[in-house]
Amino acid sequence: MSPDDLKKLAAARALELVTPGMRLGLGTGSTAKHFVDLLGARVAEGLDVLCVSTSEVTEAQARALAIPMSTLDETPELDLTIDGADEVDRALRLIKGGGAALLREKIVAAASARMVVIADETKLVERLGRFPLPIEVVPFGLEATRRAVLAAMANAGAPGELVLRRRPDGSILLTDGGHYILDAHPGAIGDPERLAVALSAIPGVVEHGLFLGLANAAILAGKDGLIVLGSLD
Ligand code: 5RP
Repeated sequence: MSPDDLKKLAAARALELVTPGMRLGLGTGSTAKHFVDLLGARVAEGLDVLCVSTSEVTEAQARALAIPMSTLDETPELDLTIDGADEVDRALRLIKGGGAALLREKIVAAASARMVVIADETKLVERLGRFPLPIEVVPFGLEATRRAVLAAMANAGAPGELVLRRRPDGSILLTDGGHYILDAHPGAIGDPERLAVALSAIPGVVEHGLFLGLANAAILAGKDGLIVLGSLD
């Protein structure tokens, strides 16, 4: 099976968690895209759901599939969010934001009674931090914020480089919220909770990609089948 087949397998298992009438959060990324495609097929067969997206890209995909869409203003409480992740550890702590959607992803996950992560098994790590940690920052005061983030990382025992994310054409990437992303390269994050608190205390930081205490379960697809962390109930 290809990595993409594995992502689809995890997405298909997550679709089994969806019941009629649910209010769903729809994630962003290649794995979440499979889930939205599969959900769209069920909606076409008559499944009744109401969804909120975590990015403009997912919003467009869902609308093209005629999935009924809402907003967190109209539907502020969701039953279940299904989203991908860049890293998952065995305590269900995540790094997210590889697709630059971490801010809306975290807002939607926090508004959901449950969040289930879907991924292929390569995303499972013993310790977070191999994947660069995305940190969303406001453009104003970028250099001051960059220095504050570097200091916070060092103080939290996770020093490393910070790289301003750019598009393939070299221009600075703007998130859906009009912010920049600094990708942190700590290598390994010994104490994610401590780093999360330190980053959140910086005024120019809008949000960071450490998702702690948000995921209830993860469905990880590998060549030997599905691994489930946490509870799908
Ligand atoms: C987007 C994300 C994605 O969920 C994460 O990057 C995983 O993406 P993929 O399923 O393509 O591996 O956090 O901001």
